[in-house]
Amino acid sequence: MLANELGFDAAYLDRIPFLKAPGVRFADQAKFHPLKFLTALAEGFHGRDSPIFEKSAVTKFDAKKKRARANGYWINYDRVVLATNNPLLGESSLIAGVFFQTKLALYSSYVVGGTVPRGSIPIASFWDTNDPYQYLRVDRHGDSDYAIFGGEDHKTGQGKSTESRFRKIAAAFRKLAPSAKIDHRWSGQIINSNDGLPYIGPNEEDQFIATGYCGNGFTLGTVAAIMARDWVTGTKNPWCDLFAPDRKKILGGTWDYLRENKDYPYYLLQSRLRAPEGASVRAVKRGEGKIVRLGRKKLAVYRDKSGKVKKMSGVCTHMGCIVRWNEAEATWDCPCHGSRFGPTGQVLAGPAETALRSA
Ligand code: FES
Repeated sequence: MLANELGFDAAYLDRIPFLKAPGVRFADQAKFHPLKFLTALAEGFHGRDSPIFEKSAVTKFDAKKKRARANGYWINYDRVVLATNNPLLGESSLIAGVFFQTKLALYSSYVVGGTVPRGSIPIASFWDTNDPYQYLRVDRHGDSDYAIFGGEDHKTGQGKSTESRFRKIAAAFRKLAPSAKIDHRWSGQIINSNDGLPYIGPNEEDQFIATGYCGNGFTLGTVAAIMARDWVTGTKNPWCDLFAPDRKKILGGTWDYLRENKDYPYYLLQSRLRAPEGASVRAVKRGEGKIVRLGRKKLAVYRDKSGKVKKMSGVCTHMGCIVRWNEAEATWDCPCHGSRFGPTGQVLAGPAETALRSA
């Protein structure tokens, strides 16, 4: 098997434990606690010349003047590492930046979690190869175990009701683990690249970007950190060409680029022609958002729990598609490149960098 030739300890099994289906076992996988991992990193990093600032999101980025704005202050830099999930575009390199962002495809994935009897699921990470795929992970928690089950991935802002996806995931989890007591659910965003490899490396002379981890953020985020360190210290890194943000020669990349981006013109038009979700502002219930037509404009209208209404332009501030209401998570999601906005329009996830405009 190719995995063995590449040095992995992998074995084909006719029946894998628990799922009782054929599969491949990769032995000796590592598992670690994300917050403990981050805490140890932060403790190792924080020092006299390397402060860490929390609650300091960069809201503007000016590549020409080499400065970034956070909490109302401009911060000058010699070099910058953009590890912002979807790289910030800032105030320059507009064409290159927009083109780069269209090489990324944002997917939403849905997860439920619950306690299961101790030992009822082997400690392992299970996933299948369907599209969309499903995954199951389990962890020891005192007297019981805790399992998470996820899937139903789709391009952000596209497809069916988000509530129905959670229902499907919960039903599939209960089928596998009938005694599971589900107590949490959430969704996350995965950034895919057009050839399945991340983009990690210098984008401009003094800028380094790291994105497109395709759901393997722990591993590839760590790879990116090593590469960023080598970039800063001037050390040659063997993975530079493979992950180069401007690489062109990866097999299959061109086709996938077109496939992922045929969405943009389609959803740009479709979102503008689509019937509004609500007949009038009055039809929007408390805690709900709807796209409502007002004259020639499509407004994103949100009514909060107290009944207060916020009217915004429904036009995504990235490249002009009309956003949609995500009822399961109370967000506005863009079907074109996956930007997400809070109910009152603030940016939750790029590529958009500015809030929905008030109307
Ligand atoms: S994310 Fe690109 S147009 Fe909305």
